[in-house]
Formats: sequence, structure tokens, C-alpha cells
Amino acid sequence: MDRKIISAALLIKKAKKVSALTGAGISAESGIAPFRGSNGIWKKYDPEEYAHIDSFMNNPAKVWKMISELLDIIFKAEPNKGHLCLSAMEKSGCLYSIITQNVDGLHQAAGSRNVIEFHGNNMLLICMACGKKIKTEKEIYRKIPPLCPCGGILRPDVVFFGEPIPQRAITESFAEAKSCDVMLVIGTSAVVTPAAEIPIIAKENGAKIIEINIESTPLTDAVANISIFGKAGEILPEIVKNL
Ligand code: APR
Repeated sequence: MDRKIISAALLIKKAKKVSALTGAGISAESGIAPFRGSNGIWKKYDPEEYAHIDSFMNNPAKVWKMISELLDIIFKAEPNKGHLCLSAMEKSGCLYSIITQNVDGLHQAAGSRNVIEFHGNNMLLICMACGKKIKTEKEIYRKIPPLCPCGGILRPDVVFFGEPIPQRAITESFAEAKSCDVMLVIGTSAVVTPAAEIPIIAKENGAKIIEINIESTPLTDAVANISIFGKAGEILPEIVKNL
């Protein structure tokens, strides 16, 4: 493990531009369960029934039951050492950007500034009728589905399955992947596209890929130059110590 930590730190120190792609795993130590794996959210809620735009349109109250549970957990969550390390790396000039698949806002709460939210963010609700944007607060979604003052149903400003990724997020993320010379890939199962294409684009453009995960993923043998197995909140502080 130590040899890999030191090799990763060396790559980061020598790099001109480092980007990070993060997934649910970086927030696991903040108490937010990942989607897949033994304690995954998709074990409790079938994503086809609860995370697809068609399911939301057909039965917003049912989908809002899951959303409200996730929001209650997110509102209690604090950034963990993994988030804080990435924020410190940005401040010290060792990390240029974060592309996150997460919608929990914990990178920004940890102080990271250059964050591309590939799947949107739970902090805003949008009216399906008039388009009004309302800050997500417990009061608003106490009654589900929450309604806009105009009577329209509110939805979170996130990307459901079956919806396109916002063009700006795609353009910015792919530009980061093409221009970085090191990409950290932290806490993602790398199975959901187009996010899972980002490390591959980086690799194809000459970047070194450093994967941090508690288990192997499709990137481990095929794409990663260094795969460090362990918790992000424990590995990242070790890497930062060697920067
Ligand atoms: N440290 C590092 N990695 C971890 C940790 C941890 N403490 N805990 C879990 N992991 C890893 C798991 O091994 C897994 O590979 O994090 C990954 C989490 O995978 P997913 O739950 O699939 O989350 P993610 O990759 O972000 O999912 C992508 O799928 O469901 C959609 O929109 C949702 O953004 C999400 C997308």
C-alpha cells in the first residue's frame, strides 16, 4: 500500500494538471450509503421504479418517498477527510478540478470551488409547471410530493435515469478529461455512462489514472495506472502527507 501511495503522490506532484472524478464512495464515510454494493440504496429501492424520470412522472409521490429519505440523510451529513483532502489539494494547487457524480454538495461544503456536478445537485427544487427554482428545505418536502406556490409539482435539480446530462456538465467534464495529465478516480463503480467514459477519455489523452476504491472496478485492470484499495477517507490523507 505504501509504495502505491508514494507512487501516486509522485505522479500528482509532477503533474501539470490534476482532475478528480468522484462517486458515491467518497461520501460513504459521511454516512451516505452508496448506490451499489451490499448496503447500496438500489438494494432497497429498485432504480427502475424510483430513479427513472418515467417513474417520477407516473408517480411523483412514490419517488418523493425515496428522495425525502435521501435528503434527510444528506442534510445530516458532513464532509469527511476525503472531501477535505481534495479541498486542501485544490487550495495548494495540486488539484485543478473535481467532476462529481454525487448530488450531496459535500465537496463544496468541504471548501472545493471548481466542482462540476455531473448529475446535478439536490439543493434546488424546480417546479415542473412554471420552472420556479426553490431552495431545498425540509419544510418544503415535509408534505410529498412538494408543490410550488403555483400548484405545480417540485422535482430535485438532479439527473434521473432516462434524462440527458446537462450539456455544460458534459462539455466541461470532457474538456477536463482531455486536458489533465493525472486523473484521480475516487469511490465510483464506473458502470454508469456517460460518467464512466470520463477516465477512459483521460487515459486516451495520455493521463495517468489513479483509482481509489475499497474494491476493484472495470477500471482497475483495464484503465488504472495505480489502484489503491481502501477507504477514500483513509487513503487520501496518506497521499496528501506525501505531497
Ligand atoms: N472509499 C472508497 N470507495 C468506496 C467507499 C469508501 N469508503 N465505499 C464504497 N466505495 C466504492 C464502492 O466499492 C463502489 O465502487 O464506491 C463505489 C460506489 O459505487 P456506486 O454506489 O455505484 O456509486 P457511483 O459510482 O457514484 O454511481 C454512479 O449511478 O445510480 C447512479 O446517479 C447515480 O451518480 C450515481 C451513479
